Amino acid sequence: MDLEPSASNFSPMSNPAELFEHCATHTAGLVHIKPKVVFMKIEAGDPTPVSMKINVPSSNIGSVTLLEAATLVSLVKLVKPRKIFEFGTFLGYSTSLLVENSADDCAVYSLDLGDSHVSGKPLDSFAEADLRSDGDINDEYLRGAQGALGPHYTRSLSAADKPRLCLLQQDSRTFDPAAHGLDGSVDIVFVDGGHDTETVTIDTANARKMIGDSGLIVWHDFNSNIHDDVTTFVKGLAKHEVVVCIQHTMLAILLVGKAGRDFLKIGV
Ligand SMILES: C[S@@+](CC[C@H](N)C(=O)[O-])C[C@H]1O[C@@H](n2cnc3c(N)ncnc32)[C@H](O)[C@@H]1O
Repeated sequence: MDLEPSASNFSPMSNPAELFEHCATHTAGLVHIKPKVVFMKIEAGDPTPVSMKINVPSSNIGSVTLLEAATLVSLVKLVKPRKIFEFGTFLGYSTSLLVENSADDCAVYSLDLGDSHVSGKPLDSFAEADLRSDGDINDEYLRGAQGALGPHYTRSLSAADKPRLCLLQQDSRTFDPAAHGLDGSVDIVFVDGGHDTETVTIDTANARKMIGDSGLIVWHDFNSNIHDDVTTFVKGLAKHEVVVCIQHTMLAILLVGKAGRDFLKIGV
């Protein structure tokens, strides 16, 4: 089965009803939607304008784009999670988004290697061209940068929001969700840590454990120019499950169980 539509017939879906119908009649494959499908769901859920809190994007490489940020926030507002888990804190840009746009009773966990991770290579010795063309070099830089700079966006969270954030520092390849009481209790997992096949595979397996039979898993860097492993991995999943890809972003979403069905119904 072809997962990708050919260039000639490729047209992302443009409303929630089309997506709903597609998911009701397909059990696998990539489905492409315009970002406005997510924003239409927000409008359907609340006729008054819905605000979002966002920092000016980082000039550093490695964080989500503005459109990805708006999409992520919309997913949070639609799912109304009680627990969110993020692989890949980096400088805390997306982490702050997840905290500041979720409800007061939502706990947000974010995991990264932490300041114990010391890069052998000075950050200013990485060539810009390499960072933008080589996934392994890009990952090496990101690991070094988060170790050196830390999650500084989270430091300006309000006193009310800070207690809802739990920053975990460890290699995600040895992470055990059960040890943190997270099995089957997380509503949204954002997978944006290491981009190699081993790490994405382990992070996704743990994401599945955390959402259990209901929740959303969102990958970043799907169809990235440099992190091919993520794209290959997600396309592999789409041989057996429906994966929703958002046009003009590198976000791919798996909708699982009741949370997935509830999400699909909004705005139909
Ligand atoms: C692309 S950045 C995350 C960006 C962040 N989500 C944002 O949008 O602002 C990826 C992060 O994954 C972390 N990472 C890479 N491999 C990891 C591993 N094995 N365990 C934990 N974190 C890892 C890196 O240190 C880096 O900070």
